[in-house]
Parts: sequence; structure tokens; C-alpha cells
Amino acid sequence: MVGFKEILVAVVLSFIFLVHWSWNRNSPVRIWPVVGMLPGVLHNIGRLHDFFTEVLERGKGTLQVRGPWFSNLNFVLTSDSRNVQHILSKKFENFQRGPEFREIFEALGDGIFNSDGDLWKTQQKSLHSLIKNTKFELAVQRILSQKLERGLIPILESCSVLDMQDVFHRLTFDVICLLVLGFDPNCLSIEFPNVSCEKAYDVMEEAALYRHFVPTGFWKLQRLLQVGEENKLRRAWETFDKFLYDQILLKHEKLSTKNAGKEEEFDLLTAFMLGESGEKSNRFWRDTAFSLLAAGRDTVAAALVWFLWLVATHPSVEEKILEEIKVKNMHTNEDSKWKIYSVKEMSQLVYLHGAISEALRLYPPVPFEHRASVQPDILPSGHPVGRNTKIFLSLYSMGRSKEIWGEDCLEFKPERWISEQGGVVHIPSYKFMPFLTGPRTCLGKDTAFYQIKTVAVAVIQNYHVKVLENHPVTPSPSIILKMKHGLLVRLSKRHH
Ligand code: HEM
Repeated sequence: MVGFKEILVAVVLSFIFLVHWSWNRNSPVRIWPVVGMLPGVLHNIGRLHDFFTEVLERGKGTLQVRGPWFSNLNFVLTSDSRNVQHILSKKFENFQRGPEFREIFEALGDGIFNSDGDLWKTQQKSLHSLIKNTKFELAVQRILSQKLERGLIPILESCSVLDMQDVFHRLTFDVICLLVLGFDPNCLSIEFPNVSCEKAYDVMEEAALYRHFVPTGFWKLQRLLQVGEENKLRRAWETFDKFLYDQILLKHEKLSTKNAGKEEEFDLLTAFMLGESGEKSNRFWRDTAFSLLAAGRDTVAAALVWFLWLVATHPSVEEKILEEIKVKNMHTNEDSKWKIYSVKEMSQLVYLHGAISEALRLYPPVPFEHRASVQPDILPSGHPVGRNTKIFLSLYSMGRSKEIWGEDCLEFKPERWISEQGGVVHIPSYKFMPFLTGPRTCLGKDTAFYQIKTVAVAVIQNYHVKVLENHPVTPSPSIILKMKHGLLVRLSKRHH
């Protein structure tokens, strides 16, 4: 006799089999019942970006990712430039941050990174005019000059073996704090101090990554009970908020005195406060400052570290950069290790620009972007998306797409950026994506290039950089593309 239980089990198993079979039919990754693509992902966890790049290539640029049942790991992943242009530009209004992104990055509050609609638009307008202002450009020059002279060069002069990832993180944290808050936390000093606000920031970034991968209900329970990663996040959040609110209080005090806003003291928060007509809460200033710090810190450090590693492992590129610096008469002598050049002077270094663009193409500091659909839509690749569907755009895979960059897409070739006339080749932003495309394009692209060039010239023309033998270099699974084991190098001084 076949009982009700047996029939039920048979129906459930047939259902699982059918779902499994229909999902697997067109999928370039094996989808298992219950656990979805998890086994494939776990098997490749150490090389996740390359794994998804290969899978996307097999899937013609778009993939429906299926996570385990009841997890939040179901989303559309794409590196198809038609889809990317559709999502970020043509149908911009229909693809927003979405509620889940806002929850994951809740520490960002209502800052520019975490907002949509009018809230985003008004901040974008104000920040755009501040960042494109020459006062900002001069502040970047002044701050870099100060940090190179008192921070970077003394460290490079006195240590022959260094973790350059740590050095660049310290440098960019100081630079962005000075630019946004007018305050120097002095992380970049020869003692390599443990600065609490910098450490707190790192913990918050790790917690955001954690929230991507565990089921929403689980991290929310941890948040409620204040245990595990969520407890670490709460403590780091408190430390970082205290740092930010102290800085905001100081700003208010300074602004009430006569000399506030002097050119030699330019910082983004003061300039923003001076330009605002209406009263804004301290919470608003905290969210604004946090988003700006997040925008300009790890991104620039990541770009610098991958660039330096690529140059150190490609001697012919290093030689060409040195030659260009010499030809453009931008080399220094034994007495002055470095000199600060203006944005215009730096723009003469076309080959260097090409080498940095190549590093950004192969190792985009922001490897993934998220969006969520507001209304159902059909992507140009033919993939339908429902309401509030999560979509990940792989900027990493786009930089390695044969279709966009040709058969030699995996090679580091600064030459591909140089035109026959010797200028920089223009590649549309929906193909060269590290700074995104469309209305939400990075506001700091020019300043980022300038910072990277300034540090690159100071390092490369004074030191030969050699990566320590057998030092493993792999990307870590993180929100910003970091090196898992840092970048350990030996520096030897050049004789001019
Ligand atoms: C190599 C360095 C950098 C890279 C690769 C980079 C990349 C990006 C990306 C991918 C976005 C889009 C984020 C999103 O919509 O989710 C973005 C936005 C933004 N970036 Fe950058 N960024 C860099 C440096 C900077 C710097 C130095 C600043 C400021 C000083 C900055 C300011 C901003 C701002 C304000 C936004 C928000 C734009 C908006 O939502 O309208 N970035 N950046």
C-alpha cells in the first residue's frame, strides 16, 4: 500500500528534480537542489572574481545566480555592456539602490552613497560644485605635498621592507580625512600607530561584506542579540561616530569665529556648511562626511597598490614610466626627493595615465555594483527582471571582457591607451567602468587620477620596487578589491 506520506515525498522529489533540471538547462554553473550554486561558489571561494568572470563568459555576459533556499543570494549578475548602459543610464530611474542595499550599508545613513531620488540629487549637486572647484584642486595639492614630505617619503627612506598596502591605506586615510574634515589622524607615520577611527572604519567595511553573504534574518538576529560580527560592528560604529561628531562640533565652533573658510584651510565639510542656506542636523553632516570618507579612502589605496604591483612585475613598463618622467623634465635630484606638480603638469604624463588606466581596468577598486529594479523590465540581453530584483554589475569582469578589450584583455598593456598622435585614447565610460557610467558616475575621478599619479611619480622615480619572493598576490573577497596578504616589497633607492 502506498500511503499519503510516500506520495508527498514523491511529489516533493519530482518538484525538486524538475526545478533543478529546468534551472540547470541554460545555466553555465551547476545548480543543486536546496543549496543552489553554493557548492560551485564555495569551491572557487579563493578566486571568486575570476570564477564569475569565466562563468559570465560562458553565459554570454549574464547569469541568474541561485543561492541556497531561504538565503538572500538570488540575483542577476551581468557584465554585458548593453545591460550596464541600460541599468545605469538609459533606465536610470528604474534601477536604484534598493531597500536591501540601504540595510546592508545602514552605517552610511542618508549620505550620497546610500540615497536615491531627491535625497541623492540635492547632495550630488552640492558635492559636484565643491569637488569641481579650483579651491578643492589646490587643497588636494597642498595636502598631498604635506603627506608626502612628512609621511610617505620618511617611511620609504627608512624602511627597506614594507607592506605597501598598509602604507597606502594609512596615506589615503590621512588624505581623505584632511580633505573632508580638515583633520589629520596621522596614521601614516614611522611608528605605524594603531589609530582607533581607522581600525573602526575597517571593521565596518568587513561587517558590510558579512551582511552580503549571510541570510538577512540571521544577521538581523545577531544585531538584535548584539553578538558575533554584529556586535563588532556596533562597537566600531560607536567609535567612528564619536570621531565624526567630535569633528562636526569643532567645525561648528570654528564657523562661529571670523576666520572660518580661509583658503589655506579648505575642507569639503566646511565648504558644504558655508554653502548651505537652510539649517541641517548634525546627523546630516555625519552622513555626508561618512560617505565622502568611504568614497575616497580605500578606492585610491586599492588603485595604488594594484598599480604598483603591476609596475613592479613589468620592468619594461617601469622603464617607460621613468623615461617619460625624464623627458617631461619632471625628475628630481638627490637633494629633493620629490616635488608636487599641478594637475596640468601631471596631464603631460600620457604613458603613466595609460598604465594607471590599465591597472584600474584589470583591478577596479569597486569590483561589483548593486542595483535593484523598481518596476519589472527586460534587459537588452533578453533577461526579464521582476519588481525589486537584485542585480550585480561586475566591473571586474567588464575589465576582462574579450568583447570590449580584445583577445589580449588579460595583458597589462599601457600602450592600448595611447593614440597614434601620442594622446590618451578615449574609451566610453560604459565600457571602461571603474568609475561607473551615467548620472551616478564617480565625482572624484579626476582627483583620484591626480592622487595616484602624484604618489606613483614620487615612489617610482626614487625607488626600485621588488615584490618579496614567493609573496602571494590574490584579491581578497571584500567590498573594495584589496590584496588578501598585502603587498610585501623591498625598496632600493635609485641614484639620480
Ligand atoms: C580610484 C579611485 C576611485 C574609484 C575607483 C571610484 C569609484 C567610484 C564608483 C564605482 C562610484 C559609484 C558608487 C555607486 O554608485 O555605488 C563612485 C561614486 C562616488 N565617488 Fe568615487 N571612486 C574613486 C575615488 C573617489 C574620490 C577620491 C572621491 C572624492 C574625493 C570620490 C567621490 C565619489 C562620490 C562623491 C561618489 C558618489 C556619486 C553619486 O552617487 O552620485 N571618489 N566612485
